[in-house]
Amino acid sequence: MKQEKVERFSVSLPPKLLEEFDALLKEKGYDNRSEALRDLIRDFLAAQEWERGGEVIGCTALIYDHEMRGVSDRLTHLQHLFAASVLSSMHVHLDEHNCLEMLVLRGLAKNVRKAADSLIAARGVKHGKLFMVASRELE
Ligand code: NI
Repeated sequence: MKQEKVERFSVSLPPKLLEEFDALLKEKGYDNRSEALRDLIRDFLAAQEWERGGEVIGCTALIYDHEMRGVSDRLTHLQHLFAASVLSSMHVHLDEHNCLEMLVLRGLAKNVRKAADSLIAARGVKHGKLFMVASRELE
């Protein structure tokens, strides 16, 4: 990856807040505060992008029992219906009954959300979750 020039800035925080922040960074395995702040800022920007309805990348996890009648077909049908938003999918056979389907979606926030909502709400899906990651290239 190309090394970008970085800007430095100082942050003023109440000592207690900084103490809690540092404890969490340690727990999460961050090497330094800058790494953690970059991640927080990216999350913040991605959340703004959702609210503005801009282009986003969404990841959806779906858990279902493949033995439940029709569920695999329903999920395949929905993925074809929303093919414009679905970039990729991965299927994991978790155990004898349960499957995990991981989908990567990309597009306008409203389209990604609509596709994910339909998949999560599909009959036979036990649990589903959509989360987003930054869609813009951020250094
Ligand atoms: Ni499976």
